[in-house]
Amino acid sequence: MTEIVLGVAGGIASYKAAELLRLFTESGHSVRVVPTESSLHFVGAATWEALSGKPVQVGVFEHVDEVAHVRIGKSADLVVVAPATANLLAKAAHGLADDLLTTTLLTATCPVVLAPAMHTEMWENAATQANVATLRERGYVVLEPDVGRLTGVDTGKGRLPAPAAIFAAALNVLQAREQDLAGRHVVVSAGGTREFLDPVRFLGNRSSGRQGFALAEAAVARGARVTVVAANVTLPPPAGVDLVEVVSTEDLRRQMHAAVVGADAVVMAAAPADFRPAAFVDAKIKKTADGVAPDIRLVENPDILVELVTARGDAGKPAVIVGFAAETGDENGTVLDHARTKLARKGCDLLVVNDVSAGQVFGSDDNEAVLLGADGTETRVPLGSKTALSHSIWDAVVHRLD
Ligand code: CTP
Repeated sequence: MTEIVLGVAGGIASYKAAELLRLFTESGHSVRVVPTESSLHFVGAATWEALSGKPVQVGVFEHVDEVAHVRIGKSADLVVVAPATANLLAKAAHGLADDLLTTTLLTATCPVVLAPAMHTEMWENAATQANVATLRERGYVVLEPDVGRLTGVDTGKGRLPAPAAIFAAALNVLQAREQDLAGRHVVVSAGGTREFLDPVRFLGNRSSGRQGFALAEAAVARGARVTVVAANVTLPPPAGVDLVEVVSTEDLRRQMHAAVVGADAVVMAAAPADFRPAAFVDAKIKKTADGVAPDIRLVENPDILVELVTARGDAGKPAVIVGFAAETGDENGTVLDHARTKLARKGCDLLVVNDVSAGQVFGSDDNEAVLLGADGTETRVPLGSKTALSHSIWDAVVHRLD
């Protein structure tokens, strides 16, 4: 049975940890809750004892004979702190150990997931950001807070992600072999862009965003800071990422150029529309009495992937750029022939090639692919989940980053 330590720091969001605890226990995990003294102002020890079925200890001077401050951390398979306050992050980053939760963090050898929650100003403060960067460098998985309603009437970044999302992220961390993207910033695009003809009509495509979101989840679990630029994705977003939502290829282009500054790797899993209407008509296009359909002239969109490769120039950042290619074979060549030509034309480091002849990739949970490297490598990834393919892609990225 997996032993999980659920640390609860003193923030108003600590009441949501009760639901997280339930998700862990109901899925068969053994959970020990370690609250901080200040968190007990929000949720009392009785709640944690009743829901976990285990006694709760806060300080290091209770049950000293059991040496709990060392034993709990050493025997855990996973430590999750939700919510992690600015104070808790600061203590963890500096190795302070004045209660059971902070001593547990110092003695834990297992993966650690921190889910910060605080007011936007506290999150954005340079001290907090430096502490988060330090913790990520050391391999802690620090989830980005959600953007939304905070304690009072204010809204902004700093909300604790939904318990179900933290739960999913924690399970992904348990499954990830190691946090080998620790300290890295990766950018993933997902979904399909829309090009509007008029206020109600658009040209779109079948990309669901599932593969992009799976890539983002896997990168979070491997310890990366993750930015997701999502085009029209209706799926629940992965926990712990910076989410930027876009509609058109031009939006995607602008946000990708902004997001990749200083990033280590970028994966273009989105399907940008190759063409857009030459003109946008402000009012809905009406049918005409004579039944003549309008002619719609299309113009080509810029190729974002090629632009990102070109923009990296001498600076060499992002160090690894990955493209996707959905191909079908035809009389001019096989899927891989077309893919090799595309890899050369795009100039990226890796191309993830999907055979879409039967239309099986879109919206499905499974995917199979071939990873073509600019260095001539060719890796077949057998049919499996989009999560499994994501890990194969990150394996190839990590290999190149190292
Ligand atoms: N891509 C991009 N910008 C575009 C079109 C595509 O960045 N305007 C990226 C996609 O995100 C993907 C890769 O390029 O990572 C390949 O996309 P694909 O649609 O297969 O390539 P195209 O250049 O559109 O080639 P084709 O002529 O085969 O449609």
